[in-house]
Amino acid sequence: MSTPKIQPPQLPKGTRDFYPESMRVQNFIFDTWRRAALRFGYEEYEGPMFEHLELYTGKSGDEIVSQLYDFTDKGDRRIALRPEMTPTLARLVIQKGNSLKKPFKWFSLPRLFRYERAQKGRLREFFQLNLDIIGTDSIFAEADLLAAIASMLFDFGLKAEDFVIGVSSRKLLNTYLQEIGTPDASKVYPILDRRLKIGKESFEMELAAAGLSKEQSEKLDQFMNCKSVNDVDAIIQSEASKEALAEIQRLFGTLKAAGYADCVTLDLSVVRGLAYYTGIVFEVFDKGKSMRAIAGGGRYDSLCEKLGGSRVPGVGFGMGDVVLADLLNDHGLLPDPKQILDVYVASFTNDMDQIFKVASIFRAKGFSVSHPLAEAKLGKQMEQANNQGAKWVVYVDGDKAPEGQFEFKNLATGELGTGTPETIAKIISQ
Ligand code: HAM
Repeated sequence: MSTPKIQPPQLPKGTRDFYPESMRVQNFIFDTWRRAALRFGYEEYEGPMFEHLELYTGKSGDEIVSQLYDFTDKGDRRIALRPEMTPTLARLVIQKGNSLKKPFKWFSLPRLFRYERAQKGRLREFFQLNLDIIGTDSIFAEADLLAAIASMLFDFGLKAEDFVIGVSSRKLLNTYLQEIGTPDASKVYPILDRRLKIGKESFEMELAAAGLSKEQSEKLDQFMNCKSVNDVDAIIQSEASKEALAEIQRLFGTLKAAGYADCVTLDLSVVRGLAYYTGIVFEVFDKGKSMRAIAGGGRYDSLCEKLGGSRVPGVGFGMGDVVLADLLNDHGLLPDPKQILDVYVASFTNDMDQIFKVASIFRAKGFSVSHPLAEAKLGKQMEQANNQGAKWVVYVDGDKAPEGQFEFKNLATGELGTGTPETIAKIISQ
């Protein structure tokens, strides 16, 4: 009797495997993110991948709460895999209280989990660069973050015409909603967030259900269609709205001075799904807006307070790896996923001890080195060297090996030579 065949294991929906060739691309993204964050003076931090469920419920916003991966652990605690980093950051800030010197700039590269319908640009497990500035109300914190976004996208090889940072303000939206006499602004935000997806008719119906009259909803629509600071200025009336608009104007002025004017635009359709934003909000899109958002963020001045701490202002953003990689791929900006090795150490006589000894010498000089792990014909060794992307081969047992001189070969040009490890190292480094 034959044993029943076991089904091979399956990759969970919405997750990815990172074989070495994908990992090389992934590390290129991580390295570029990290380098940019450090260049702007942000310090790296981390937290746990799971938190108490209540850190998210009620504070993050309905959509993200409905997407939580949560479970009860063996101690009967309600736990959630982190869907975003901001609540964890707020917890860290609250825990340390006044002992943290403010303002400070931190970054993190968390792996996040959201039970979303897996689709292009959205997965159930992804990575997200987070940059946040804690402890200042100043609009120049927003300027720093937006400059960092533009600068890091340039690092990836994108140009100003490839992406756009759409900026809006919850404060402005709020003051305008008050100006037109909206009964409950918090009910209106999620509708505004969906506005472009649901179409004019449903938009008006939903606003009516939230208590807005036809006139109010028309005014709101006109406001949301404003394309420039001047358009908005012509509509708004209250001092509070004027102040909120002046803040956006100040931000744009500074970004212009820093050379990023072409990267930012006023986009009042950016509302953000998360509940905790209180001021400037922004989203980054590819220029044609054909993809999901590359990044999103904003100011959250009351999150720490809502979580039981004192008032500590914060502002930051998250940039996901998935849409970014799609965009870079479309522009041919992802690196070659092939392995690159400096030196492959080969042997005519399968002298394994000598192979290990010479490999150690070259590794000590800072080169990446590989070699056969079992006796193999020279042809097979060369095949391995090529498969591993070796640039140079060093033979450990040529005629002059007893005097410490090794034959070597440049695999790209076929050039041959003999030399001590020191002279070979010099040639390889050129
Ligand atoms: P978010 O808009 O939910 O904001 O996410 C920011 C970015 O993360 C998105 O623009 C997208 O690139 C990426 N992202 C979100 N969900 C997924 C997914 N399911 N699959 C792939 N990528 C995804 C936040 O998370 C805020 N906590 C950001 C923030 C930091 N605000 C202040 N500080």
